[in-house]
Amino acid sequence: MEEHVLILGSKGMLGGQLLKVFGAKAIGWDREDCDVLKTEDLRFKIKDLRLPIKAVINCVAYNDVDGAEEKQEIANLLNAEVPGVLAKICKDLGIPLVHFSTNYVFDDEKGEYAEDAQASPKSEYAKSKYEGELAVKNNTDKFYIVRTAVLFGPKGESELSKKSFVELMLDLSSKNPTVKAVSDEVNSITYAPDLAAAVKNLLDDKKPFGVYHITNSGFGSWFDFAAEIFKITGKTTKLEPVPSTDFKRAAHRPKKSVLLNTKLQPLRLWQEALAEFLNFTKY
Ligand SMILES: NC(=O)c1ccc[n+]([C@@H]2O[C@H](COP(=O)([O-])OP(=O)(O)OC[C@H]3O[C@@H](n4cnc5c(N)ncnc54)[C@H](OP(=O)(O)O)[C@@H]3O)[C@@H](O)[C@H]2O)c1
Repeated sequence: MEEHVLILGSKGMLGGQLLKVFGAKAIGWDREDCDVLKTEDLRFKIKDLRLPIKAVINCVAYNDVDGAEEKQEIANLLNAEVPGVLAKICKDLGIPLVHFSTNYVFDDEKGEYAEDAQASPKSEYAKSKYEGELAVKNNTDKFYIVRTAVLFGPKGESELSKKSFVELMLDLSSKNPTVKAVSDEVNSITYAPDLAAAVKNLLDDKKPFGVYHITNSGFGSWFDFAAEIFKITGKTTKLEPVPSTDFKRAAHRPKKSVLLNTKLQPLRLWQEALAEFLNFTKY
């Protein structure tokens, strides 16, 4: 029988793209199929699949960076505790687990970080994601922890799926003559379909278990990202660079958190991926 992958959070932005790249070999579950907070149900349902499972791919997360400052309990449950339970379930069943983390686990002076760099999470969101990494590592040896950053791409099917920066900028530019974007926060940037394809390669190539950094090549500030969006779409909206102190947000963010990929073939530049996305999407 053909091996399948089980994708949790399949109606989110990344989950939706993973469903596409794995096609008929994917089983997708979202909240209505299995609420991951009901961990005994989760264990029972995975066990009950009665199909050879190549990997469980966990895309479920609490992704509201500012919201996590207040809603620490749910952020910790979804980002730290559930991944630990899931890792244990996978270990018991002998199934590899793919889990996603964030560039925000790095937040010191260095700015660029290889896979083995020391984490330094500052915000509640970043702390909960880092705890999730540790919980996965502590409960199974067969794990792929994939750190990624600033996802964009087609919106997830779920109503709550996070709006990407691309949608946000295009929306703002259609309503305002001037748009402000933060120029002193720099991140890696990632096209969700490229990440999904790279995750499939990771599994198909049976890469060694461990921590991987998967983003598009290059990096940019929010201002650089917005400028590229407006250039590609021919928007004439004025774009104003502003310091992060101009935007009052609950959570602290790193000044520069670029993920260095030292283990895998690099993906194309984020600008190329963005051009492909915008040229195929009607705005
Ligand atoms: N988005 C980014 O910029 C970014 C950056 C770095 C890392 N990441 C990481 O990449 C991964 C994928 O992110 P994403 O942006 O694709 O996430 P997303 O769009 O927010 O999708 C998360 C999915 O999980 C589902 N979910 C939430 N609570 C659940 C529960 N209790 N039971 C079952 N399903 C539940 C959500 O359903 P509902 O909508 O119904 O809640 C949603 O479909 C996450 O680990 C995230 O932390 C993302």
